[in-house]
Amino acid sequence: GTADTSSIKDNLCAVFHKAIGAAYPDIVDPPVIVTTSSNPKFGDYQCNSAMPLAQQLSSFGKSTKQTPRDVAKEIMSKLKVFSVVEKYEIAGAGFINVYLKREFGQSVLRSWLWAGQVLPPYVKKKRVIVDFSSPNIAKEMHVGHLRSTIIGDSIARLLEYLGHDVLRLNHVGDWGTQFGMLIAHLRDKFPNYLTHAPPIQDLQTFYKESKTRFDEDKEFKKRAYECVVKLQAFEPDITKAWKMICDVSRQEFEKVYARLDIKLIERGESFYQRHMESIVAELELKNMLEEDNGRKVMWGEKHGSGIPLTIVKSDGGFTYDTSDMAAIKHRVEQERADWLIYVTDAGQSLHFQMLESCAKRAGILKSFHRMDHVGFGVVLGEDKKKFKTRSGDTVKLSELLDEGLKRALQKLKEKERDKVLSKDQLKAAQESVAYGCIKYADLLHNRNHEYVFSFDKMLEDKGNTAVYLLYALTRIRSIARTANITKDELRQRLHEIPISLEHEKEWKLAKVLLKFPDIILGINEDLYLHPLCEFCYEISCAFMEFYDKCYCVEKNQSGEIVKVNIGRLLLAEATALVLEKCFSLLGLKPVAQM
Ligand code: ARG
Repeated sequence: GTADTSSIKDNLCAVFHKAIGAAYPDIVDPPVIVTTSSNPKFGDYQCNSAMPLAQQLSSFGKSTKQTPRDVAKEIMSKLKVFSVVEKYEIAGAGFINVYLKREFGQSVLRSWLWAGQVLPPYVKKKRVIVDFSSPNIAKEMHVGHLRSTIIGDSIARLLEYLGHDVLRLNHVGDWGTQFGMLIAHLRDKFPNYLTHAPPIQDLQTFYKESKTRFDEDKEFKKRAYECVVKLQAFEPDITKAWKMICDVSRQEFEKVYARLDIKLIERGESFYQRHMESIVAELELKNMLEEDNGRKVMWGEKHGSGIPLTIVKSDGGFTYDTSDMAAIKHRVEQERADWLIYVTDAGQSLHFQMLESCAKRAGILKSFHRMDHVGFGVVLGEDKKKFKTRSGDTVKLSELLDEGLKRALQKLKEKERDKVLSKDQLKAAQESVAYGCIKYADLLHNRNHEYVFSFDKMLEDKGNTAVYLLYALTRIRSIARTANITKDELRQRLHEIPISLEHEKEWKLAKVLLKFPDIILGINEDLYLHPLCEFCYEISCAFMEFYDKCYCVEKNQSGEIVKVNIGRLLLAEATALVLEKCFSLLGLKPVAQM
């Protein structure tokens, strides 16, 4: 048969499924287990179905008992010739080892080189909303929001690459009772705020001041509550004060997004005020709200399990839960999303479970909708304690990024890059390294785990770090440059010269590259990004092994080029294309010179 090149694993599964079906037509839903081999001795992929099959068969009480090896032989006899596979072989207890064909590898790499980019594997397209970053107004955007920003952006990049219709939403906390005290304080402190812009750049201090008054002054507290009511009624002067406060925060957030190259549409909790009113009415009508000490709460599909959402507070106000119920309805019904992704710290996982359950109960989410809470662990300092400044304050994101820039420059100077690069090149390299290493260190770890933030670690130039990988890519790219061959010339040569996959190290590198579609498809399923980072490292290691053993450009003693191996340059270029694609999915920005 011919190969659909997108997923080797899926293709092999289909092939084995057929063979097993032909060998054992009586078994419904037979186990089809195909994995990549852990050791090259066992081929490139292996099928491990014979063991569970033999067990199933013996439990049927068949008179002639079949060993797993017998079963494997039986499956082998039914396997069809398949263009992807060089050979199958039975090993050990009954494993079937699969060896890939070099011609197959060549055809896939050739298609990427010809397209000038790694083509995305096929998936069923969805309308996806990725809700990420989502900091709170007037409170500092902290490292937790940084994680959400980095992970959410990378997920959105990957889904966009796969061709999904992605809407990136920033669900900022811009509504709620804290605005009452902020606005009341603003009005007291700057009575002519409507005509003269108040100097509230330092929102943190402003927030603290108003909080103190709120806690100590009964009179003030009362006025703060009145402000909330007026805000929710869209009273003009109050709305203006609210907008002023939001603008200050927004400017801060946007600086961070610009530096990290993050695209996001702001649609905060306030956007849903009207929708909150109508969802409450709807839930009330459907009889889904219950009194609980003056509050109105809603249980999920299973009454009494988890914690109910608080839909209306005892003072009649709305909550975080209300805004999420309103938002989910808007996203599904107005935005027509069929896949909802929320990226927040793992501490909110119960909230999102309840949200999903309530939305199903209310008939908003249907069975075909997919909803994922992408949770992540807390960020720790190098002392393994909660990430804080020395004085115990939360770390300001802008200062963290500044520190990254400073450290990246130090690193480049250590390597004496400041002597070779122009001023602009050095600046570009500095930003690439600083922001790249912050993003990469985050994405490299299983997001469920807590993660230790360490500039020293992330800026190491050995091991699986952004610095190492960014350098690896510039080195690969420089090979063709030394040979004086442009990308276009290389592409033209594709017609005449096969990509060189004869040498063991060449073939090993190619087989790593061929895993790309399966890695991407895996992330489309489980939204874990660390395998993509491990993959980048695997590529650069395989490349170094290849480059060590296989000359691409041969020079004589006086340094003149005597031979250029185009087939190998093609393999190097394919490697660069895959690495580049991975970087762009991870939000890393490689520079030409560094
Ligand atoms: N503002 C929230 C926080 O800082 C995150 C919001 C996440 N999105 C959502 N739809 N609930 O924790």
